[in-house]
Amino acid sequence: MSLHRIILKNGADLDGFRRAVRWLMAEELAPQHTAWSLEDAPGLFGDDRLRDAPPVPLPRSVARLIELGVCHSSPERYALLYQLVWRVLNGERDLLEIASDPLVHRVDTMARGVRRDLHKMYAFVRFRRMKGEHLERFAAWYEPEHFILEASAPFFIDRFRSLDWTILTPIGSMRWDRRELSFGPAARRGDAPDEDSVEEGWRGYYESVFNPARVNPTAMRAEMPKKYWRNLPEAASIPGLIQTASQRVEAMIEQEATMPAKRTPERALEAMWDQEPRTLQELNAVIAKAGPLVPGATQAVFGEGPEHADIVFVGEQPGDQEDLQGRPFVGPAGKLFDRALREAGIDRRQAYLTNAVKHFKFEQRGHRRIHAKPTAGEVKHYRPWLMKELELVRPRLVVALGGTALLALTGKSTPISRSRGRAQFGPYRGYITVHPSYLLRLPDEATKREAYAAFLDDLRRIHDLAGADPETGELPLAAE
Ligand code: URA
Repeated sequence: MSLHRIILKNGADLDGFRRAVRWLMAEELAPQHTAWSLEDAPGLFGDDRLRDAPPVPLPRSVARLIELGVCHSSPERYALLYQLVWRVLNGERDLLEIASDPLVHRVDTMARGVRRDLHKMYAFVRFRRMKGEHLERFAAWYEPEHFILEASAPFFIDRFRSLDWTILTPIGSMRWDRRELSFGPAARRGDAPDEDSVEEGWRGYYESVFNPARVNPTAMRAEMPKKYWRNLPEAASIPGLIQTASQRVEAMIEQEATMPAKRTPERALEAMWDQEPRTLQELNAVIAKAGPLVPGATQAVFGEGPEHADIVFVGEQPGDQEDLQGRPFVGPAGKLFDRALREAGIDRRQAYLTNAVKHFKFEQRGHRRIHAKPTAGEVKHYRPWLMKELELVRPRLVVALGGTALLALTGKSTPISRSRGRAQFGPYRGYITVHPSYLLRLPDEATKREAYAAFLDDLRRIHDLAGADPETGELPLAAE
């Protein structure tokens, strides 16, 4: 049998790939009979053969992998993704669960690389004001590793909706004019504006948040590779900051010697970060070693879920059952939460569940241990761990369940009734809703029913925001 050549756009051509897959599946053409080529401008009207083939029903997890995989810079990406689709649709529906399968491993690694690249882009794009503009316009130059320009757009629109901005990259450019998004050709570094007053603001900000006791140039370079430094106005400060770090640490130690003894737990916590945890396991080891801030808890209860989950749910603290079992959300509030997640179409196993405070705090009343709310100081004590968890998981969406989680994520005590809905927690898209235990505490059945329905609405929005098709639960490949 001859080889069928499919020509796709040299970029993240999800649309082209989707059409190709439909046609290939309709024709029952196995991967070994296909050859994939990339062109900068494939035929204006596309390949006629690829029209009108019926959609293919793919599991959500596979569609999601494809969405990410097509953004990868490897020229083999489409061939590999088609092999995956072929196997999934030919009897291996649960293929993704076999992590040891070489193809699954390869595609998964590609998807992770793309995710990482997206997070770097979210963190390191810096806008500069364009000179000589009547209206305020901003532009940024950025060099991604993969074809992530389109995939990054929702984040930047969400974050800078009211600004007129352009992001220029060697793989293309995109502009948001406060209403519409448009894509343009590749750019060169010199097309973006350089030094100006906006940069002073960034530098000042960076110097003020830079904690000299944490200077670890190796870790710093790993997190913010040199490659990215040149795009950052604050990078001009980095060598100076490193040089003066030991001086500044001494000054800080002197200053801390006069601080009240109450701060000791926090200092102890910082001291444990001599080696910044690079994985969730390392982070959990630090938490376990630190022990409870308030005595009594059986064990630390760590976050639970996939290492790179799309959604992180942040609760308050473990309860009695969680403390005994060593897992989050397994007691009465957890059971209610499970039910609501199921009804909203969210698979708990695909999400990452954690708490603002990692140990159970309680009052002993006879044989019973009654939950005691953590103080703002206790929440602050645990905060660096939560932030590190988010940094390691790098979710698409962070959900605050109740006031304690919100305090941990924002540093502010805001009533949930006033802040409920979409939010931004630092670099993360966020959502604020009630804690499931609030529903358990409501006095009468009618109020409970109403509050549960509102909670379900929130979870459905969370599900949509995290990227699934609201009707089918599937992602674009299966949809028209
Ligand atoms: N409530 C929380 O906030 N977290 C748990 O893990 C259990 C109950």
